Amino acid sequence: MKTYILKIRRFDPERDTGPRWEFFSVNLDPGESLLDGFIRIKEQQDGTLTFRRSCAHGICGSCAVKVNGKNRLACQSLMKDLPDTVEIEPLHALNVIKDLVVDMDPFFEKNEKVLPYLINNEPPPGRERLQSPEDQGKILQAITCIMCGCCTSSCPIFWNDSEYLGPSALLKAARFILDTRDRAEKERLQRILGRDGLWRCHSIYNCVEVCPKEIDITGHLTGLKRLAVKKKLFRSK
Ligand code: FES
Repeated sequence: MKTYILKIRRFDPERDTGPRWEFFSVNLDPGESLLDGFIRIKEQQDGTLTFRRSCAHGICGSCAVKVNGKNRLACQSLMKDLPDTVEIEPLHALNVIKDLVVDMDPFFEKNEKVLPYLINNEPPPGRERLQSPEDQGKILQAITCIMCGCCTSSCPIFWNDSEYLGPSALLKAARFILDTRDRAEKERLQRILGRDGLWRCHSIYNCVEVCPKEIDITGHLTGLKRLAVKKKLFRSK
């Protein structure tokens, strides 16, 4: 066991006029995660500490927070990889509901805008629409996205333009545009080529740097830009 100091940015809308820092001294095994630290605080020191979590295994994407200035999943951040004092904040550029919980509604609404589901009205050839390993390889990275919001919240374009679709929604569009079973390429491209869409991406790579699934998000967005140019689609209304 080792003692870590968790410096947590807190905000309770019913009590605070603005955010405040609070320090917690927590005993943790270096093999435990930052999420274990949050749980330990909630159980043993302050039951009002508010954070999201579900799977604790890097699957649900609900525990994303900013750790020492970089977005990460709390459940995948092991204490042995962190310094003795760890600074934790809610995800940037999303409204804080309480402590480490941010309002994800605008984030998920943007995902909805790109039609995040397979569209194909042709009758299936058999029991299912098969895909070759090569075709599946085209979407292999994009399908591992867990929609944690780390990428969009780390994007400077999104910080300045909350209407920007953001890397997560654009990656979702790429995931279906690249899917050889899908038939809605044109409609999706129209949806992402508006004023707050794909062309706002300046290839800053913050999204790639923070993605817990190591997805080359900027690479996917660059691929979409190439496709749009090839089809002579520059900006829709
Ligand atoms: S709790 Fe599910 S990803 Fe961290």
